[in-house]
Amino acid sequence: QQRRTLIAGNWKMNGSLSANSGLLGDLLAASIESASEVLVCVPSVYLAQCDALLAKTSIAFGAQDVSAHQSGAYTGEVSPAMLADFSCKYVIVGHSERRAYHHESNELVAQKSLQALRSNICPIVCVGETLEQREAGKTNEVVVTQLQAVMDVLDDGALARIVVAYEPVWAIGTGKTATPEMAQEVHAVLRKTLAERSAFAAEKVRILYGGSMKPDNAKELLVMPDIDGGLIGGAALKAVDFLAIIAAA
Ligand code: G3H
Repeated sequence: QQRRTLIAGNWKMNGSLSANSGLLGDLLAASIESASEVLVCVPSVYLAQCDALLAKTSIAFGAQDVSAHQSGAYTGEVSPAMLADFSCKYVIVGHSERRAYHHESNELVAQKSLQALRSNICPIVCVGETLEQREAGKTNEVVVTQLQAVMDVLDDGALARIVVAYEPVWAIGTGKTATPEMAQEVHAVLRKTLAERSAFAAEKVRILYGGSMKPDNAKELLVMPDIDGGLIGGAALKAVDFLAIIAAA
């Protein structure tokens, strides 16, 4: 497989200057030697801290959201160009928490992805079904619709640069994980959706799994052929757990 595994932590709304320097210090002290790419996605106010602590290290950093606009009268928003100012490489877009609590639509998530790419920032596009949707047999339809909205605004070259994260909503922060087979099935559907548009993009795009990934279940998920990494919430907040997941990859 040609795709480099990506182990991404999503700190969500956690951290402080001192807690971050402790956590990042512990990660750096472990001098990670891994073939995988390691990433932490932090609240935007801590990007400058990451820029200072992580420059020239093997740990990349990213943001958790971005504006769909490049500048202007959008109070409270942070533009892709601003993220780029801090050497931010990635940004999570369309996380289920933003879709649920901030009513982000598929179209908005698509615009955020497009604008991030224009500033050379790689969007990590999150898709995933709720428990109700899974029980109604709608999983594939939901995730394909979410991905398709982003595909619709990108040309083939841009599409090949995105990362997709499949996060079943019912598995996020609940301790319930999709089985490796369940996750693989959805990842394969997502890869097929990409392939229908561009074989090159389908081969390139990394599809991460997220939802209660922990040291004890990471390996069995990461060995699946279409699971190219993880988007890790809770377990990314403890250096020992995050390092164990990196070691399992
Ligand atoms: O972005 C990360 C996911 O929402 C997973 O969170 O690992 O705490 O379940 P979790």
